[in-house]
Amino acid sequence: MKKIQIINGPNLNLLGKREPGIYGNEGFDSYLKTLRERYPDVQIDYLQSNHEGDLIDCIHRVGFEYDGIVLNAGAYTHTSVALLDALKAVTTPAIEVHISNVHTREEFRHHSMISAGCKGVICGFGLDSYRLAVEALR
Ligand code: DQA
Repeated sequence: MKKIQIINGPNLNLLGKREPGIYGNEGFDSYLKTLRERYPDVQIDYLQSNHEGDLIDCIHRVGFEYDGIVLNAGAYTHTSVALLDALKAVTTPAIEVHISNVHTREEFRHHSMISAGCKGVICGFGLDSYRLAVEALR
């Protein structure tokens, strides 16, 4: 069975409540349930944290063992050299995902610190961005 780790960064615990015009009305727990049902042959593990170090610890923990990482680093996407280094340090391929199309938003969201450590980037498809990443990794 393939193992994929989904990692959500800061403020993504508020999905469904947070700026629904941008991020939609669905919370991640209900989305994750449908995602797991759709891919019964894939073990999909999930971590959300608002703390940068927790995201790094998770990358280290799964990064030599799992088949893929789906990472929505939230705002750390645009700032974190430490996350880039963590992604480069491990062997498991990661896909960077964003719910919104960051390129149609504020200029500071146009640059990602972490893309260079990822196999690919998916953004702008709402929560379906996560499914597309799972599809690319499985
Ligand atoms: C986001 C986009 C980021 O710019 C923002 O800071 C987020 C969410 C997205 O999924 O669209 O927290 O990663």
